[in-house]
Amino acid sequence: MIVARTVLELREALLAARTGNKRIGLVATMGAFHSGHLHLMATAREECDVTVVSLFVNPTQFGNAADLAAYPRDDARDQELASTAGVDLLFAPSVQEMYPAGFNAVVEVGGVTEPLEGKARGLAHFRGVTTVVTKLFNIVQPHVGYFGQKDAQQVAVIRQLARDLNIPIEIMVCSTMRESDGLAMSSRNTRLSADARAQAVALFEALHTVQSLVALGERLTADLLANARARLSARGIADADVEYFSAVNNHTLKDISEIADEPVLFSMAVRVGGVRLIDNIVIDLPPSAPRPLNAP
Ligand code: PAJ
Repeated sequence: MIVARTVLELREALLAARTGNKRIGLVATMGAFHSGHLHLMATAREECDVTVVSLFVNPTQFGNAADLAAYPRDDARDQELASTAGVDLLFAPSVQEMYPAGFNAVVEVGGVTEPLEGKARGLAHFRGVTTVVTKLFNIVQPHVGYFGQKDAQQVAVIRQLARDLNIPIEIMVCSTMRESDGLAMSSRNTRLSADARAQAVALFEALHTVQSLVALGERLTADLLANARARLSARGIADADVEYFSAVNNHTLKDISEIADEPVLFSMAVRVGGVRLIDNIVIDLPPSAPRPLNAP
């Protein structure tokens, strides 16, 4: 595995692949690898000739300095894991390389950035994500970008970014990897105390409740969300710790009151023992059977 620290090194390392018409896949990450990241890398490896992983803890997407400082970093371990996963190229630039003195551009996407995480964390978060992802797309120029369903809104935002700015890339989404009890894998999980870790299963239980009630025929999202929230409180999570728990169209992120033919994203951000966790599920019912033309 080649490790590139600068844009120039990365471009040189990719030159042969590009002129040889190889299919290049990019997995953008902030490191602290877990099985979710490794799943994205494995999928990229299967589908592409060259797998590039970027590892950059992007300061511009963090709301405050403390959160950025607390972000777990272990470059040596990540390098080892990426190499074992069969990654061809690890792009691990410094902050200086990505944001040199005089850097003064932003890429901003409207609409889908506004609800959910945008509302809870402020618009600067997605502005940071869209700016750095645009830079990574331009630096690597991959044919395919791999992203996790765990960050469902991020997927919607990046799809909109690529579409609106005509970035020639295919966006692939990989399913959420979970611990054996259902907790979605996240680099933040290491910050959970033993008690909070036990409580954190509530998020998955709440999503499971949504799925079970939909299977029983419930279609009203207000009822589904009320039942799901009850699962959170049953585990001792206070209402005030639920930043949001919403049912929205999976692509437009507009609120949905009743499940019908559109895919519905149930997504939440919850503080458990002071750690902010997010999780989601998409309910995509098969289209209802067409009614005969002359049906009453
Ligand atoms: P990061 O949080 O490191 O996540 C990198 C990628 O891994 C994202 O696409 C994310 O959705 C995916 N991922 C995280 N946990 C996952 C899980 N449990 N299962 C499947 N995929 C999972 O997301 C970012 O970094 C940054 O915002 C980034 C896009 C790199 C821009 O800085």
